[in-house]
Amino acid sequence: MAKQRVLTGITTTGTPHLGNYVGAIRPAIAASRDTSIESFFFLADYHALIKCQDPQLVRQSSKEIAATWLALGLDTQNAVFYRQSDVPEITELTWVLCCNAAKGLMNRAHAYKAAVQENTDAGEDPDYGITMGLFSYPVLMAADILMFNAEKIPVGRDQIQHVEMARDIAQRFNHNFADVFTLPEAVVGDDVAVLRGLDGRKMSKSYNNTIPLFQSPKQLRKSINKIKTNLLEPGEPKDPDDSTVFQIWAAFASQSETQRMRDEFAAGIAWGEAKKQLFELIDDEIGEARERYNTLMDNPADIEQELLRGAERAREHASALMRRVRDAVGIGALR
Ligand code: TRP
Repeated sequence: MAKQRVLTGITTTGTPHLGNYVGAIRPAIAASRDTSIESFFFLADYHALIKCQDPQLVRQSSKEIAATWLALGLDTQNAVFYRQSDVPEITELTWVLCCNAAKGLMNRAHAYKAAVQENTDAGEDPDYGITMGLFSYPVLMAADILMFNAEKIPVGRDQIQHVEMARDIAQRFNHNFADVFTLPEAVVGDDVAVLRGLDGRKMSKSYNNTIPLFQSPKQLRKSINKIKTNLLEPGEPKDPDDSTVFQIWAAFASQSETQRMRDEFAAGIAWGEAKKQLFELIDDEIGEARERYNTLMDNPADIEQELLRGAERAREHASALMRRVRDAVGIGALR
């Protein structure tokens, strides 16, 4: 049986945090070790340009994200790990897909619509500050996916629509030209925790409530101490299901350890004590990876070597597919 092909991209505009780790990175790394799956993971650095015009930030984020995935034990023999911009075929395919994607489809993209709405609410021109990059974002993402004939696309809920658009675009191309593309499907794990951040809302860079994954133990302890709790005193029973501390605990602990903490909450564990235990639990899981991370950050050439090897493997697929696409649309050598 052919291996199932899984693909996902990470936009390089931020520092990996515990929410990224639990929701996306940890499951992806587990998948990279599963030899019944062929996985493609990449740094979506061209996507980063859509929301970030700070070159230093894009560079730093690319480095941090690559170092994070490698430090956590991504199996780069099995999985293909690359940087989007190292595979120029992806942007070539983007143009061909642009010529097949309906503008009306792009008009319906949530991210674009939200930007227009914000302008309208502010009494601005609806197009104010909206680039062609933002508008065409789903087409670039479709190229990422369709280029590798990926079947399963693990994403967060906010990205489901984009995967469906990729599917639409693929269908239309296949119908108009030739059966070139596999139709992709989004996978959103129900069991994957959406971690809450310092203020209790979803942990997200846009809320500025994140706990960075690889900060020093001292800083990690500080961050955990900032998690919002209520004013209940030691000895007063606390509701675990209403607690960010407990929710993060459950994302790292075994079932029996989760049950134990549930009991401790009922017995009135002090917030300071719960946070101390949470720090130890997290530090235990990521401590060794943190050392590898720091070493990689100090030796970017080692990261680079992995990425370039990944790009070479990715381009084997991409150049073959691009030949089929060009042939299908009538571009290429005259004969
Ligand atoms: N747009 C995705 C995000 O912001 C990242 C991404 C880019 C992606 N290309 C992709 C995800 C292809 C899955 C498949 O999260």
